[in-house]
Amino acid sequence: MFSPPNSAHDNAASDTKRIPKKSRKPQKPVVVVPESLVNRIFNEDCIEGMARVPSATIPLIVTDIPYGVVSRASGGIRVFDKKQADVCNISLPKLIAEFSRISAGSVYIFCGTEQVSELRALLVHEGFTTRLCIWEKTNPTPVNGQHLWLSGVECCVFGRKKGATFNEHCKNTVWRFPNGRSKRHPTEKPLPLFEYLVNTSSAPGDIVLDPFMGSGTTAEAALRLGRKYLGFELDKGYYEIAVERIKGTKHGS
Ligand SMILES: C[S@@+](CC[C@H](N)C(=O)[O-])C[C@H]1O[C@@H](n2cnc3c(N)ncnc32)[C@H](O)[C@@H]1O
Repeated sequence: MFSPPNSAHDNAASDTKRIPKKSRKPQKPVVVVPESLVNRIFNEDCIEGMARVPSATIPLIVTDIPYGVVSRASGGIRVFDKKQADVCNISLPKLIAEFSRISAGSVYIFCGTEQVSELRALLVHEGFTTRLCIWEKTNPTPVNGQHLWLSGVECCVFGRKKGATFNEHCKNTVWRFPNGRSKRHPTEKPLPLFEYLVNTSSAPGDIVLDPFMGSGTTAEAALRLGRKYLGFELDKGYYEIAVERIKGTKHGS
C-alpha cells in the first residue's frame, strides 16, 4: 500500500537517496565542432581555418602535407612535375601546435623523409606517442629501375593522444597498398589506404579533419565509412575538384 511521506524533511531525504551524488555537481559543457564546419571543405589557408575549431574536438586527423620537394620545372629532384601541389608554405611548429590544440585522438601525417624527425619531435613535445609508418607501394613506378632501387615507399608520422580509438590489434607499421591510377591531383593518395586509417582510428559519426585536402581523398574515405569530414584546401582548382568528388560519394552507415 502507498504511504505518503510524513514531512518535507522525509521528501528531501528520499530525493537525496535517489539522485547519485555525482549528478549534483555542475556538469562540464561538452564542446563540439560547430555545425557550420561539419561536412565542409573551405578554400582557405588551414592555419587560419583551424583557428575556428574548438580545442580537443577532433578524434582523427589524416593528412598529406606538402612535402616541400622542388618540382622538375624548378630544377628539382622529383621525376614528375608536381607544380605548386608540393610547395611547403607552412611552419611545422605552428601546424603541430594547432593539431595538438584541436586533437582528441590520433593524427596521421604523410610527409617527406626530411620532415619525419621534426614532426615526431614536435608531436612528442606536445605529449603524443608517435610511430613512423610506411606506405609500401605494391606497384612502384618503374622509372630508372635498371640503375637504382625504385621509389616504392612514403613516410607517415602517426601520433596518438591517450584514449584515442584504435580498432586494430598488433598491426605492423608497414601498410601495403597499390598506388591508384586517378589523376585528380599530382600527389593523390589511394582511397583504400585512407579508408584503412579512418576505419582503424575513428568510430562511425566521428569527424575526420584534413587541413591539406587536395582532391578530397580523406573526405571521401570518411563519408564512405559513415564518418563526417572537415577540410581546408588553399588551391581553388583542387578545392573545386574535391567538392565535386564529394557530391558523387555514396555515404556509408
Ligand atoms: C600533398 S597534397 C594533398 C593531396 C591529397 N592527399 C589527395 O589525395 O588529393 C597537399 C595539398 O595542400 C594544399 N596546401 C598547401 N598549403 C596549404 C595551406 N596552407 N592550407 C591549405 N592547403 C594547403 C596544396 O594545394 C595541395 O593540394
